[in-house]
Amino acid sequence: MEVEATKKEELVPIFIMGKRYEVPASLTIQKAMEYAGYQLIRGCGCRGGICGACGTVYRFPGTYKIEVGLACQTVVEPNMYLTQIPFFPATKSVYEMEKITPSVETLVKHYPELLRCLQCNTCTKSCPMDIEVMDYIAAGMRGDIARLAELSFDCVMCGLCTSRCPAELCQYNIAILGRRLYGKYVAPRAEHLASMVQEVEKGKYEQMLRGLMDTDEETLKNLYTSREIEPEQADENWTPKDKTYL
Ligand code: FES
Repeated sequence: MEVEATKKEELVPIFIMGKRYEVPASLTIQKAMEYAGYQLIRGCGCRGGICGACGTVYRFPGTYKIEVGLACQTVVEPNMYLTQIPFFPATKSVYEMEKITPSVETLVKHYPELLRCLQCNTCTKSCPMDIEVMDYIAAGMRGDIARLAELSFDCVMCGLCTSRCPAELCQYNIAILGRRLYGKYVAPRAEHLASMVQEVEKGKYEQMLRGLMDTDEETLKNLYTSREIEPEQADENWTPKDKTYL
């Protein structure tokens, strides 16, 4: 994507992999890299802080502190020395969900390094999503799968925690195992979902779906726009009358 600066826009110096560029001060790191001429083939996915592909490390002159952030969310600052780490090699265990149990033994069997955690909190300080990473690792060490799943829920798997961990844990893969265990064995079953699946399996909606598949596009559009919307989900800017947004 080509990004152009207006003449009046303030330019700031940044350093990408050691080379100096002047970029508009309002740009995110990702857009600044493109402005500087980089074509992002890797390290760029959703551009919205969701996919975790754009983990970036940077540092300012005169300080030892390494900063981290998502390139698509972090705005450039003068004299930022940066590089992206679009991929970080991480341990990734393979398991069959049917053959494991929601326990600390499972976590340790697949990620024995879990017990090397030093409780230094570097992972939490590295997380661009403000997740209490150290706390969910501690929950895993206690075998508290529900807490592990709950605390890690917003993880975008950018890998920045792992890149900084002195004990060499891969926190996000431990967390995804925890969430899988929670979903399969710990979370209460949704009874309405089970009955709905039964209805689908019995073919209750078969005829209706076949009818829709044979319907022309215009009729489908009309059906969609005039569908019943539950009040709490309705968009207040939506006017069913003229089928447009205000
Ligand atoms: S590009 Fe997806 S999180 Fe930044």
